[in-house]
Amino acid sequence: MSNLEDKYCTVSPAQVPYRTLYTGARIPAIGMGTFGSDNYSADTIAAAVEQAIRMGYRHIDCASVYGNEKEIGDVFARLFREGVVTRDELWITSKLWNDSHGRVGESCRQSLCDLQIERLDLYLVHWPFPNHHAPGVSVESRDANAQPYRHENYMNTWQAMEQLVDEGLTRHIGTSNMSIPKLERLLADCRIRPACNEMEMHPHFQQPELFNFVTAHGMVAIGYCPVGSPNRPDRDKTPEDTVPIDDPVIVNIARKYGVHPAVICLKWALQNGQIPIPFSVKPEKLAANIHIAIEPPLTDAEMAAIKSIDKNCRFIKGQVFTWKGATWEALWND
Ligand SMILES: NC(=O)c1ccc[n+]([C@@H]2O[C@H](COP(=O)([O-])OP(=O)(O)OC[C@H]3O[C@@H](n4cnc5c(N)ncnc54)[C@H](OP(=O)(O)O)[C@@H]3O)[C@@H](O)[C@H]2O)c1
Repeated sequence: MSNLEDKYCTVSPAQVPYRTLYTGARIPAIGMGTFGSDNYSADTIAAAVEQAIRMGYRHIDCASVYGNEKEIGDVFARLFREGVVTRDELWITSKLWNDSHGRVGESCRQSLCDLQIERLDLYLVHWPFPNHHAPGVSVESRDANAQPYRHENYMNTWQAMEQLVDEGLTRHIGTSNMSIPKLERLLADCRIRPACNEMEMHPHFQQPELFNFVTAHGMVAIGYCPVGSPNRPDRDKTPEDTVPIDDPVIVNIARKYGVHPAVICLKWALQNGQIPIPFSVKPEKLAANIHIAIEPPLTDAEMAAIKSIDKNCRFIKGQVFTWKGATWEALWND
């Protein structure tokens, strides 16, 4: 693997692998995350999206709660006008925030308006709970009205998501932060199946059972926090958390190829079968992350070594979404 960190290379989007959804649509196998972990302004992230698109990224993972869809929309509009990229060449995802489960159409239309596009490629229910928190709150903060998962409520939201497809406002709908039992019930009751499930996935949290379930049921897994989100907010850190990019197995493989350990986490993700959506606003990191998609594969022994370091260590626990008397584990263990 070549170390291209300081060349800010451009990758031809045609070389970047893709995955095929059950509809036949092709989604680029690596994307760019846009949640700035409270560290970067909306303008800084939008400028990074522009850099990423100019470098060859064609898949951008957005969400209304990230607070930057307007600024990213300005970038899309300008790049379309300048002919840098066409709308059809981009894969644009957005997500329904927890406070909007009862107003899906309105929320999707707002994202479309902010992103300055007529149709999304993928719209996800960000969390399966309507439990809300204000941006940037402490880990102790709780929504007084927070409730456990209720399948009838989720299906009401899902039916409104299905209507978005009927109306042509999004090509696909999907889920995020789900468990196998919740997905089983959704698959049994839905009219339009989820095309993708976005879930935390990195070498220390590989979620093999959920990943296998998702792929066996015709969905594509999109892996968030793919390098272990080293700069996530303090509210999302606990003393037990591990650091995948410091793991000796990852560090040794990275040393062999002369790349940052983060890049090895992404190569593992691509080869394992999920779509990683790494975040950075730094051109050298953006370049290294997209470039890894076109580098030769890791060896079978390296893949096996990474498989063996899974620590079942979830970073995004969702403490702020819990209801009275519940611990965060209740969000995940049905
Ligand atoms: N569906 C959901 O509920 C959900 C939850 C969380 C995240 N997400 C999505 O997933 C995306 C990614 O997750 P994330 O941002 O938390 O975690 P991440 O991508 O694992 O980690 C991002 C951090 O890693 C560093 N990094 C990235 N590439 C690097 C490289 N090549 N070398 C060294 N360091 C590198 C960046 O550092 P610098 O800051 O120095 O650039 C950045 O702060 C988000 O942006 C968001 O779009 C979705």
